[in-house]
This record gives sequence, C-alpha cells and structure tokens, in this order.
Amino acid sequence: MRILSIETSCDETSAAIVTNNSRSEVIVLSNVTATSSTLHATTGGIIPEFAAREQAKAIIPVITEALLLSRSISPTNIKTNYEKANKILKEDIDAIAVTYGPGLIGSLIVGVETAKTLSYAFGKPIIPVNHLLAHLYANFISSDVKPEKIEFPFVGLIVSGGHTDLLYFESHEKYQWLGGTRDDAAGEALDKIGRLLNLAYPAGPEIEKRAKKIKSPDIKFQSPMINSKDFDFSFSGLKAESARFIEKNKITEHLRNHICYAVQEAIIQVLIKKTIKAALKYNAKYILLGGGVSANQTLKNALVKELKKQKLPINISTPKPIYATDNAAMIGAYAAINPTAIEWKKIRSNPELYFA
Ligand code: KG4
Ligand code: ZN
Repeated sequence: MRILSIETSCDETSAAIVTNNSRSEVIVLSNVTATSSTLHATTGGIIPEFAAREQAKAIIPVITEALLLSRSISPTNIKTNYEKANKILKEDIDAIAVTYGPGLIGSLIVGVETAKTLSYAFGKPIIPVNHLLAHLYANFISSDVKPEKIEFPFVGLIVSGGHTDLLYFESHEKYQWLGGTRDDAAGEALDKIGRLLNLAYPAGPEIEKRAKKIKSPDIKFQSPMINSKDFDFSFSGLKAESARFIEKNKITEHLRNHICYAVQEAIIQVLIKKTIKAALKYNAKYILLGGGVSANQTLKNALVKELKKQKLPINISTPKPIYATDNAAMIGAYAAINPTAIEWKKIRSNPELYFA
C-alpha cells in the first residue's frame, strides 16, 4: 500500500509518500516540509491567519515535490512537474491520509480540503489521522538507527508545542489516555519562557543547547505536580516561577543559560517520573516518545539513565529528529498501520480533536 500523506495542523505544510513492508514497519519514500517558522520567529509565535495563508500557497508545490521525489525524479522542470506528479498520483497511490485535528482551524482546512479534492478527482480513498497519535507512530518509521521492533504493551508520551499526554497501548486498536497537561504543554512552556529570555521561537532547541553548557547548576525550579498521584501535568506555574525570577534579576548571558538549565530540568524530571510510573503500572515493555520536545536528547538520555538506575527492563523508542517535529511521514505511518478509510464527503477538520 502506497499512501500520499498530508500534514498542515500548525505552521508546517508537509507531504510524504510512505509504504509498509510488514504491518508495523513503515518506509518513507519522500517527505517534504515547508515551514513559515522564520516568519513566525519575527513575531515570537504563530499567527494563525499568516500560517494558513502560507500553507494555501505551499500545499500544491509541496505535494508535487513529494510525489516526484518518491520516484527519485528531481523537481527541476517547472513545466512538466505537475504533469508528472499527476501521473504518479494516478498510478502509484492507493490512498490519501490527512491530519484532521487537532490544530489551527484555518491550517487544518487547507490540508483537509486539498486531500478531499484529490480524493474526489483521483478516486482514491481518504484516511483521516489524529495528529497526536501520529506523533507516536513516527516511531514505526524504519531507519538504520531504529532496527528494533517495538513490542506491546507500550506507554506513549506525547510532548509537543500544544500537547503533553500519556497513553497506554495494548495493541494498535486498543489504547487508553492516562493523563495530560492541565494548562500549558511542555513545549509551550519552553517557548513562552524562551520569549521572556529573548530567545527565537521555537525556543526548545536553543534552551537545550544553552542548558548543555551548565556543568554545575546555580538555580533550581520546582517540577510542577511531580508528586501528584495521577498522570497529569501542569507547566503554567513553572512559567510564572521563571517569569518572577527573570523580573527580579539582571539577566546576563551566564544567568540566561542557568535559567535554561533549570527550566529544562524541571520539565524533564516530571516527564520522566510520571512516564516511568505509568510504564510500571501497566507492565509496559516499551516507552515511546513523540512530538517536538522528544527531539530533546537530554530528555532521552535522562530517561535511559533513570531506567538503568532503577534496573527496569523497559526499552525506549524516540523518532528520528526529523520525524519528531511536525511532518507528513508520521501521518502516513499512522495511516499505513491503521488504514481505515472513509468517504471523502465525510471528513471534517476538527481543531478540538482529542482521543476517542
Ligand atoms: O510537535 P511539534 O513540532 O509541533 C506541535 O505539534 O506542537 O513541537 C514543537 C515544539 C516546540 O514547542 C519546540 O520548542 C519544541 O517542540 N522542540 C524542542 C526541541 N525541538 C523542538 N523542545 C526541546 N528540545 C528540543 N530539542
Ligand atoms: Zn505536532
């Protein structure tokens, strides 16, 4: 099965062609992403209307490039690109997968309506995909660094700019939401605190880079809800604590790095504690991380270290960094493993979509 997949839930416009060998091993033939993040770096955050306008411009060229690259055709000849892509879509593609939520309404509409039009025009079935679940399914994309086979049951931690959620998976079909953030997401907290520190948006990667420079930390922030009995998170208190600290102190370059360390550490500690608690409660064989914050190497290393320290035989899987942040390959990965198609007339963008 060869799938054209489309992702436009936030400020990226992404298209990919994927196929699968076995049910759980997804091969990416092409993955093309255009982002308006440089535009949003100048505004310090995403302006939904700007994002959707850029996506409306980018969507057809991005899909065209993904189709051509899936057959190793370089998209250099503007005159014939569309003709060739049209032929590839007709001949190679078995289904179209698209993110239908959650996300920004204007952005989702660009992807969903494009997918619908292509589904109708080319007679291909359409597979609606939940963006959050897809973040975890990025772990099923095959690559040289990820030869291992993920086993059930597993616990999934989604940590992105908009979400922080813990889930338990018994099988691909049977999963359960365990808890999530009550206010800001982990990535959102990093981005908002980054803004207070005058760091470019999105701030997560820069905060990690600066935190790495700290060998002996001077300051410590509280990990919110670290001792609560549930699987919920809360990061708005951390944002408030950091804001108070930043206001009270003269922010030198040295102190900025220490704040980055303290913020990252406070987030990592609570993520690790609750994820391991969930894995133990449900006898998980694997922990899967997904979402933009899972690109954070310090988080992964700290989780590995803690599992080792507690002598727990639980494996960890994180997506390759390019598949951790928003991308269409993960949408294709979810659809290839869970290929439930619906009629094009029935798909609707759902910005508030959560877990069924
Ligand atoms: O999954 P994603 O691309 O978009 C959403 O669906 O939200 O996640 C974006 C988030 C941003 O908050 C960004 O700061 C964070 O992921 N991020 C990181 C790193 N790379 C991206 N956070 C911490 N460390 C990183 N290396
Ligand atoms: Zn995302």
